[in-house]
Amino acid sequence: MDKLILLDNNLKMNARLLFVVLMIAGGFKSMDVHAVESAPNCSRAENRGISSTSNDGSHIRCEVDLKLTPEERQRYEVLVNIIREMNKTSPIQWKSIFLRQRGVELSRAKFILTELFLENSPLNLEIARKQREILQVNLWNIYLHLYDSFLMFSDGYREIFALAHNVLPKRGVIGVLGYGSGNDAASLAALAPGRQIVGVDSAKDAYPIAEEKMHLLSERLKVPPAQLIISDLADYEPDQLLDGAIMNNVLYSIGAKEPDLAKRRALRLELLKKIYKYMKPGSTFALNDPNLMGREKLHDFLERSAESGVKNRMVITEEGFALNCYVNIQFLASGNLMMEKSERESLVKEAGFIIEQQIETYYGTSTMMVLKKPASHS
Ligand SMILES: C[S@@+](CC[C@H](N)C(=O)[O-])C[C@H]1O[C@@H](n2cnc3c(N)ncnc32)[C@H](O)[C@@H]1O
Repeated sequence: MDKLILLDNNLKMNARLLFVVLMIAGGFKSMDVHAVESAPNCSRAENRGISSTSNDGSHIRCEVDLKLTPEERQRYEVLVNIIREMNKTSPIQWKSIFLRQRGVELSRAKFILTELFLENSPLNLEIARKQREILQVNLWNIYLHLYDSFLMFSDGYREIFALAHNVLPKRGVIGVLGYGSGNDAASLAALAPGRQIVGVDSAKDAYPIAEEKMHLLSERLKVPPAQLIISDLADYEPDQLLDGAIMNNVLYSIGAKEPDLAKRRALRLELLKKIYKYMKPGSTFALNDPNLMGREKLHDFLERSAESGVKNRMVITEEGFALNCYVNIQFLASGNLMMEKSERESLVKEAGFIIEQQIETYYGTSTMMVLKKPASHS
């Protein structure tokens, strides 16, 4: 118990430190935190082969085999090492207290990463007090590092990319819509170097992280350089039609600032129709998005992420905890951004896609839709 109290104090101190760092880091940009909800979604090993729903509503088996070949695994490890290196040299030093304090047991780590994120702990109160100021900070920069220090070490998050790898073509132009810190782009390229990655993201802070990651990957694995651009998806016009595309944890944030639900739906539909237009007939679109979820599901998600994070030697810090704590509180408060599966189904169908499979991902908190643009459509 002593150890936990000590840790809590450290966290509290570091929340203050984080705030100071954030203020100094500058680049202040007003942003809607609803659009940066944390913990997106992934599937568990036991979810492999779960039943999914076909377009006509009947249940089909998911045929996707998530097992990677030894060579693919090796290539993936190269990417994970790049992420470790990038985090080491980031302006904010991400050093894991779990790694330093090897005495911390998994059960304690899990407790810290779940209970502290969700309870009225001193840390959370501290962060709540700073909420207004933090909202004015360029949160994406920090948040995207959190993606690389926490999520990328979660089996659930990685499984989304393994799944996408299996359903997307191994060659051709692959659109990565909302690339963030570049993990989806880098994973797809690492696993099949025949893919030409074309990425779009509106966050200026996402670009340098994703660019550096793809550059290092290209050097070490000889994958073709990715074409990453900074643009709102609504304004993006590709030079050529896409052979496949992935959009992971982006759709729910479209129209985040629009309180009118009908208008928000219209914005999401408009984007899906646009994506449909720039995909080749017969091509596949892997759309992963979080589902509406309550506290219990989020708690379970955090616990499972923490467990695999510890196992995979994540590089998260006290500052990371503080931020994730804050973001998750916001996440609960902004639950209405997420869609029920039925709502998402009606959107993609209206945009013209055929739903081939739906697979529960990210510890049951989100769903990957494997969508097809009909081959006959020109
Ligand atoms: C939660 S992150 C997911 C990043 C990445 N797909 C991954 O899984 O690691 C969402 C990303 O979508 C981007 N995004 C959200 N709305 C966008 C829009 N309208 N146009 C372009 N990018 C957008 C954000 O900038 C952010 O980088």
